[in-house]
Amino acid sequence: MNKIEISENILYVGVNDRDIDLFEGQYVVPEGVSYNSYLIMDEKIALMDTVDARKSEEWLANIKVILGTRQPDYLVVSHMEPDHAGSIAAATETFPDMQLVGNAKTFAFMGQFFDMDIENRKKVVSEGDELSLGSHNLKFVMAPMVHWPEVMMSYESSEKILFSADGFGKFGALDADEDWACEARRYYFNIVGKYGAQVQTVLKKLSEVEVNAICPLHGPVLKENLDYYLGLYDTWSSYRPEDEGVLVAYASIYGNTAGAAKEIADMLKEKGVKKVAVTDLARDDMAEAIEDAFRYDKMVLACSTYDGGIFPCMEDFLSHLKGKNYQKRTVALIENGTWAPMAGKKMREVLEGMKEVKVLENVVTIRSAVKEETIAALNALADEIVNS
Ligand code: FEO
Repeated sequence: MNKIEISENILYVGVNDRDIDLFEGQYVVPEGVSYNSYLIMDEKIALMDTVDARKSEEWLANIKVILGTRQPDYLVVSHMEPDHAGSIAAATETFPDMQLVGNAKTFAFMGQFFDMDIENRKKVVSEGDELSLGSHNLKFVMAPMVHWPEVMMSYESSEKILFSADGFGKFGALDADEDWACEARRYYFNIVGKYGAQVQTVLKKLSEVEVNAICPLHGPVLKENLDYYLGLYDTWSSYRPEDEGVLVAYASIYGNTAGAAKEIADMLKEKGVKKVAVTDLARDDMAEAIEDAFRYDKMVLACSTYDGGIFPCMEDFLSHLKGKNYQKRTVALIENGTWAPMAGKKMREVLEGMKEVKVLENVVTIRSAVKEETIAALNALADEIVNS
């Protein structure tokens, strides 16, 4: 079992999953992921969320190590997505006296996922309701669309601990030795990014309480420097760029467009841009490209024309950006086309449908391969990006 120190009476019983190939069926997680679950020990015992069904047995064994033959009195269900709710049926069967705590939507979704007779075991709560466990007291904070409609957080007021559901979570098992922000940012923008307004609403509610520790459903328990994490969430959810920098994202068929993208990336660095990230949209992790697009204030898109339009991996990238509410950024375009270059026009049309995205007028058009005049045009575009 992971040894995670929270407090004398709040204990970690979650699990790591290092065997999963794709999280949520689409995200690569080279360092796995953790499904967090906690026990609050008091006169009454609350179990905070379950884990993915892939790990039910390990999770139930973790609980048994602490409780022996005792049962939790309550299972608090923060979120019905199967990475957390997948073991609800197993838990309900294992602990027949345990009550289930959730809101009206939680139980509607529970009925859709499971066939269980829990009518007499339901405790339905709503915004601001409290559940006393003895000296510990849980107050429920609804967090709709962070990241599903039924999501709720729980604030334990005696120890000032926030159980934050998916909020403040990250990819990576708990024994992964990696930077928090990198994998938390990739997680945030790809999973919760669309719902910045809803995250802002929750942050406002949380600003009214003192928080000593944040216990998310993925990744480490956060106990120090909480202003740093709260500050990043405020930046991310308000769609403010986190850093000055440029993401250069390219979609290239034979390498000529890629060459132009790398050329302008070098030019930007030479002109003093400290952070320049380059991504090959056909080969690199799309989720990382999305993360970098939101991280920086500027972006260059370099794309081959294909079937009279945008090369498919760039089209996919733009569709992801639109879906995640990409906004408040400056974008420069490079297109390539041997006979009828159209990618620039088509990319502009998509970008102009996004909120407060400024697309630079000047577009570099490559007619097949990078030539001397292309270098001059790229240099002029790099100047414009730096000065924009
Ligand atoms: Fe970690 Fe939205 O589930």
